[in-house]
Amino acid sequence: MTRKGMTVQAFREMKSAGEKISMVTCYDFSMARLVARSSVDVILVGDSSGMIHAGYDNTLPVTVDEMIYHSRSVKRGAPDSFIITDLPFLSYHVSKEDAIKNAGKLVKEGQANSVKLEGGAYFCDIISHLQACSIPVCGHLGMTPQSINSFGGFRIQGRTETDASRMIDDAKRIEDAGVFALVLELVPEELAARITEALEIPTIGIGAGVHCDGQVLVLNDILGMDDSFKPKMVKRYAELCTLIPEALSSYSRDVKSSAFPDAEHSFK
Ligand code: KIV
Repeated sequence: MTRKGMTVQAFREMKSAGEKISMVTCYDFSMARLVARSSVDVILVGDSSGMIHAGYDNTLPVTVDEMIYHSRSVKRGAPDSFIITDLPFLSYHVSKEDAIKNAGKLVKEGQANSVKLEGGAYFCDIISHLQACSIPVCGHLGMTPQSINSFGGFRIQGRTETDASRMIDDAKRIEDAGVFALVLELVPEELAARITEALEIPTIGIGAGVHCDGQVLVLNDILGMDDSFKPKMVKRYAELCTLIPEALSSYSRDVKSSAFPDAEHSFK
């Protein structure tokens, strides 16, 4: 069972108690039902849906309506799980009004418990406005995928002392603005440890080492759905990219040999 009664307060309590937080992404009803049967603490409806489900090269084309669809489907499959849903690219950048309207849609229509946005101090004002409107916000620093064009690719961030200091400052400032947790993506583990140490809210790492207060991975990566994609930060816990085609080929063989449907699967 995913953690029942998970709340924004529980994030800090788990950090204080030294209890690590496990998070996975999820995008649809049937997988959400399976995640809900696991001991994973939190579900992230990530805008990685654009890459995983729609096959885009990056997350930029994802829309608010698509995130609502994914979020609502996940909530139906995992009604008792705590859900963080991503605000997609340009849904919170233009104005505070836009940010509140779009985050509000993710909560009202997408039934998210909270939203996640990418970026540092520049977004403090928006974060505190969302907070004031009772929309909890999770932060995201490091290799923030919505900035792929500025970063010039999926690259480790914070390698120089200047970049590292800026990231630490960003982390403290968005914590002050009210984020309840912070995702750190593709950050050297020593920097992630410094940020984790400097904050009261938990850090959730993806490619950010073991010193974070929790970890998040993309569900399809954990399950090994794509054998052509194996970045260093991913640990596969299953090889569905082999199991699924094998199962489908068995089915196809049975159809062709008339072994399926047999008496057990037919009606008199
Ligand atoms: O969209 C996503 O899946 C994410 C994770 C990579 C943290 O933001």
